[in-house]
Amino acid sequence: MLTTRPRGTSDILPGEVEKWQYLEELTRQVCREYGYGEIRTPIFEHTELFHRGVGETTDIVEKEMYTFTDRGDRSITLRPEGTAAIVRAYLENKLYSLPQPVKLFLIGPMFRYDRPQAGRFRQFHQFDVEVFGSNSPAVDAEVIAMAMDIYRRIGLNNLELHINSVGCPQCRPLLRQKLQDFFRPGLQELCPNCQGRFERNPLRILDCKNQKCQELSQGAPTTLDTLCPECATHFQQVKGFLDTAGIAYQVDNRLVRGLDYYTQTAFEIMTRDIGAQSSIGGGGRYNGLIEACGGPPTPGIGFALGLERILLTAERQGVAFPISPGAGVFVATVGAEADNTAFSLVQELRRQGIPAEKDYLNRSLKAQMKYAGKLAARLVVILGEEEQARGVAVVRDMQAGDQKEVPLAGITDYIKSLSF
Ligand code: HAM
Repeated sequence: MLTTRPRGTSDILPGEVEKWQYLEELTRQVCREYGYGEIRTPIFEHTELFHRGVGETTDIVEKEMYTFTDRGDRSITLRPEGTAAIVRAYLENKLYSLPQPVKLFLIGPMFRYDRPQAGRFRQFHQFDVEVFGSNSPAVDAEVIAMAMDIYRRIGLNNLELHINSVGCPQCRPLLRQKLQDFFRPGLQELCPNCQGRFERNPLRILDCKNQKCQELSQGAPTTLDTLCPECATHFQQVKGFLDTAGIAYQVDNRLVRGLDYYTQTAFEIMTRDIGAQSSIGGGGRYNGLIEACGGPPTPGIGFALGLERILLTAERQGVAFPISPGAGVFVATVGAEADNTAFSLVQELRRQGIPAEKDYLNRSLKAQMKYAGKLAARLVVILGEEEQARGVAVVRDMQAGDQKEVPLAGITDYIKSLSF
């Protein structure tokens, strides 16, 4: 127990963490270009927020939340997703008084008690963006374009963008009725969850993973069959903007998404390269969510990308990240006096912004050189007793293999001149 992490979690170690930093920097850069501001919300929220926000009939709320009672007898939940929390922050901080639309992004861990497998974790990380205050179909298309732009810049290939419209409270009653008429004859054969969903939210039956439910939902009426004129036009316009932007998509009239807040546009980005957990991102419009959370009627739309799944896809597709390995400069010494000089030299190099390292284990010169190799140092400064006495050091370029004797007095400038 003491040396085992909880199932479905990961340690991200040096060597791997640089990829995360690269991804985070890339997404932050894209957000700067698209005008999004970063928001950081708490890891835990009042449980009620997710019941209200994500929806009572979702898998997340029904069975995946990490919920506990705190010492003050409050029900608290580790956030299973970002949208409801960002909506809460938008309302609590009165961000609706800012010029609209308000564009926000969040990067951080999410928690879902799901069965762990390749690409599915109990603690995973999302990059999440949300836009509040505009119902324009151009915003839907821009948000989708931004997601695709991020994947393109990372270098991912073979992605499929699926889009659908799930309608609005105007079209839902008709869809609900059609779905209930469709499922009623086989109601007893649906899984117990879906039997409950039949009354509460029959649309969710289409998203059930149970094989029998999937069979029974073949040929079920779809959201696109029942769109009201306003939703139909909105969907038409979103597709028009995507066409103009040259973004390829497939209309998938069975795409429901696993969260209850969606209205109109819903989308998901899939890859066939990472197995069953093929969704590497998804999102949609949620025009009723802010009001449902106690705010003024405000349209909203957003998406979230799963960072673990992006990294897995990159690995499977052989996409390399431009990460420069290596510790910069290693100062190898012989003798106590040289060791003293090395101590000041590494401090000076670090002050100048150059990564520098020395030996701390009294290794022999040979062992120090081996250690420098393991650290992938670009330069090794060799400071023996004789060099120390003459006030010089040997600077060896580990890639080129050549070396040069340099006066200690000017050594920092010399190293800097080697484009550090
Ligand atoms: P979601 O589809 O539940 O949407 O999650 C978005 C992405 O997070 C998925 O496409 C997947 O890449 C990743 N993901 C989800 N669950 C796991 C897991 N257990 N392990 C690893 N990765 C996972 C949402 O969360 C919405 N809040 C997105 C959104 C934002 N909609 C509007 N705004």
